[in-house]
Amino acid sequence: MYNSFEELKKDCEECRRCGLCETRHNVVVGVGNPEADVLFIGEGPGENEDIQGEPFVGRAGKLLDKMLNAVDLDRNKNIYIANIVKCRPPQNRDPKPEEQEQCIDWLRNQVRLIKPQIIVCLGRISAQKLIDPNLKITKEHGSFIEKGKFLMMPMFHPAAILRNPNQKPEAFEDFLKLRDKIKEICPDTYK
Ligand code: URA
Repeated sequence: MYNSFEELKKDCEECRRCGLCETRHNVVVGVGNPEADVLFIGEGPGENEDIQGEPFVGRAGKLLDKMLNAVDLDRNKNIYIANIVKCRPPQNRDPKPEEQEQCIDWLRNQVRLIKPQIIVCLGRISAQKLIDPNLKITKEHGSFIEKGKFLMMPMFHPAAILRNPNQKPEAFEDFLKLRDKIKEICPDTYK
């Protein structure tokens, strides 16, 4: 249990719980407002994130920022962004189940400190780990699923949208639904 983000960040940056620590350049803990009501969770850092130490700073990240900004969300202001695993899997392979398992405690501690109301899962890996191991993102993206104290929403991963630009209109609809829900349950996000 942590009382502050600084303590958590310091320990997380020294983590050696799985093999990913051998090849990483930076531990990508997260970015944003630690008091946000809305938390976005991706899969894991890619090459750019590993180098810069911040989530979603590559091409997919630029697209994510664009969609966020279209609904007045901003990584430096009113949301927080983290990943399931904090260190880059080599060659950007999917993080292995055991790597996810070793890492998930950092995310749990982040969630305890942030206390978000809405958690958006970006992509299959995040949605299956946090919502339902059998979740089909193509079917359930854009829906709200109540889980404990949180309202969870699976969304397409921005990298998937880059590979499949025909998903863009649907992805954008999901952001509009998210905006409406934020206005309904945590309007201070927009103050
Ligand atoms: N993809 C992710 O899932 N997370 C990142 O931080 C970058 C790319």
